[in-house]
Amino acid sequence: MNEPKIQPGILDIAPYVPGLSSADSDKRLVKLSSNETPLGTSPYAVEAYRRSSELLHRYPDGAAVELRAAIGDRYGLDSEQIMCGNGSDDLLYLIATAYAGPGDEVLVTKHAFAMYQIAAQSVGATPVVAPARSLGADIDNLLNKVGPDTRICYLANPNNPTGTVVSSKEMERLREGLPDNVLLVIDAAYAEYVGRKDYSDGIELVDRHQNIVVTRTFSKIYGLAALRLGWLYGPPKVVDALNRIRCPFNANGAAQAAGIAALRDTNFVDAAVAHNGKWLPWLEAEFENIGLTVYPSIANFTLVEFDDTSRRNASHAYKYLLENGVIGRELKAYGLPDCLRFSVGLEEDNRLLVDLLAKFFETGA
Ligand SMILES: Cc1ncc(COP(=O)(O)O)c(C=O)c1O
Repeated sequence: MNEPKIQPGILDIAPYVPGLSSADSDKRLVKLSSNETPLGTSPYAVEAYRRSSELLHRYPDGAAVELRAAIGDRYGLDSEQIMCGNGSDDLLYLIATAYAGPGDEVLVTKHAFAMYQIAAQSVGATPVVAPARSLGADIDNLLNKVGPDTRICYLANPNNPTGTVVSSKEMERLREGLPDNVLLVIDAAYAEYVGRKDYSDGIELVDRHQNIVVTRTFSKIYGLAALRLGWLYGPPKVVDALNRIRCPFNANGAAQAAGIAALRDTNFVDAAVAHNGKWLPWLEAEFENIGLTVYPSIANFTLVEFDDTSRRNASHAYKYLLENGVIGRELKAYGLPDCLRFSVGLEEDNRLLVDLLAKFFETGA
């Protein structure tokens, strides 16, 4: 048939499946499926967003100068090396577009955030998946998969959905082992939640090397997921290349205004860190009491494994929770069919989740 021809490989892409945000339940819905903050958004950011409605008829600043300066101030970075995007997903895509194409390989770890493979396939490149160790990235396994066609290595740190971390020492080892012509993309979407001394978001590596980019987001701890705002910090040459191919206004006006205000509200971020620091270990301990296998997480979500040989498996638990108003995340697409992932919620949400799971196991629900 004579019809527009889709590029090779596009129809092989399994579309990204976002966390459910509604369910057939007459109960209050508790959404724990997308690693969002349960604390909402800084009131200053909400106010800035409202004010931005006065300028809806104007194009925003395409270069996001004020926002980049605010990010630079907040994190001590040169704003010339920052680029903003329509969520960090946008930036992950742009990196693939600029640095990979047909015949090239893009390296990821098994169970890594799904967008890396989608971005690679969308530009005709081949994703190469290195085996994980304890569900997380293993540097030797990644390095063993590097070949002459490798162009990009994406690494989420911490990783979603596993909550695993790569120490700064191991990250340095990865960088040293990668050829200089491979771009290492460190996706630090959950960096603000991590309190460990051996963790780094990788930003200091960018200052020492030409082949590292770090991506960050306003979707998680800043509570601006709906506005779609992410940023990256990279070497000038990389930022220059990406600036040439991005859409001219890929950070919208409302997002820029709210982002600037959110950055200033450090109390809001501190409260989110404190909340997570209290409720993540609580959830992990409660799940263990129930008899579930918990994979330790350092982000704002937890990963639990169910026994696949019994009726009380992950699929049944997921359905049971959904019927009772709690939305978790199934992980079949991540090669983790026996696991569910839950974001840390408000106290009442966390207690409800644990109570429901306890009931599920008591009654076989
Ligand atoms: C590891 C990781 N990177 C990037 C993203 C995308 O974030 P954004 O909302 O900035 O596109 C997510 C969202 O879940 C994520 O988990």
